[in-house]
Amino acid sequence: MKIIHAKDYNDLSRKAANIISAQVILKPESVLGLATGSSPLGIYRQLIIWYEKGDLDFSATTAVNLDEYCNLPPDNPQSYHAFMRQNFFDHININPARVHIPNGMASDLETECRRYDQLIQSLGGIDLQLLGIGRNAHIGFNEPDSCFSKYTHKVALSESTIAANTRFFDREEDVPRQAISMGMQAITQARKILLIASGPDKADALYACCFGPVTPQVPASILQLHQDVTIIADEESLSSVPPMFLFLPPSEGAVVCVNAGTDQKVTEGMR
Ligand code: GLP
Repeated sequence: MKIIHAKDYNDLSRKAANIISAQVILKPESVLGLATGSSPLGIYRQLIIWYEKGDLDFSATTAVNLDEYCNLPPDNPQSYHAFMRQNFFDHININPARVHIPNGMASDLETECRRYDQLIQSLGGIDLQLLGIGRNAHIGFNEPDSCFSKYTHKVALSESTIAANTRFFDREEDVPRQAISMGMQAITQARKILLIASGPDKADALYACCFGPVTPQVPASILQLHQDVTIIADEESLSSVPPMFLFLPPSEGAVVCVNAGTDQKVTEGMR
């Protein structure tokens, strides 16, 4: 696990966009696992700018999104379908046939979940998975639970997630109580994972994700077992990480490497 310190949200967004950009340049036919929420907005804005400049070409790229609310039609402005169109897909040259988001309106959600897993498998898995992190350390909509959910599944959203996501809706009662989320198998089989965290309300979740025990009560902690995870975090979200784990002072930019499942720092420095 490699934790890259970002000065602020803009710095975080540019660094993360650079990694996604490199992925698309090196492998134009990449399968990108994409995320919603406010955290990736700056990344999508940056990628659009580079696309408009002619530096990026998404025509061969495939996107598979992590999740979608149940019972929100795709044209509902709060749906993740609408979010992705408005903030990214409508502004780049990705082929709409290569855009995949779970269908939260499916009459048979179980069948939809199986379809989504088979689809990801048929694409050969995910090359680079972008993840935000919830305040309770959820990834996608994999909420704290007694076990990790392996496959795409229907989720009852936790009270903390409903409260956090209320800001996108007029009233709390408008926030859907259920969603479909990609499971941990597809996420952890991604060849590379890029997790972003910004703001003080992510500090505890980020610390638990990187340094706590691997437990389904902290869904993001499963990432400690993955071979290629890069976390880009701003100063506020790193506030719970003890300075001893920072190789270089934050102002100079720091990369912290943590051995999978242990607190042992293996470190390298980078500017
Ligand atoms: C939602 C999404 C997650 C996202 C999380 C954090 O619950 N399903 O994929 O990571 O919100 O969102 P934000 O970046 O707005 O804090």
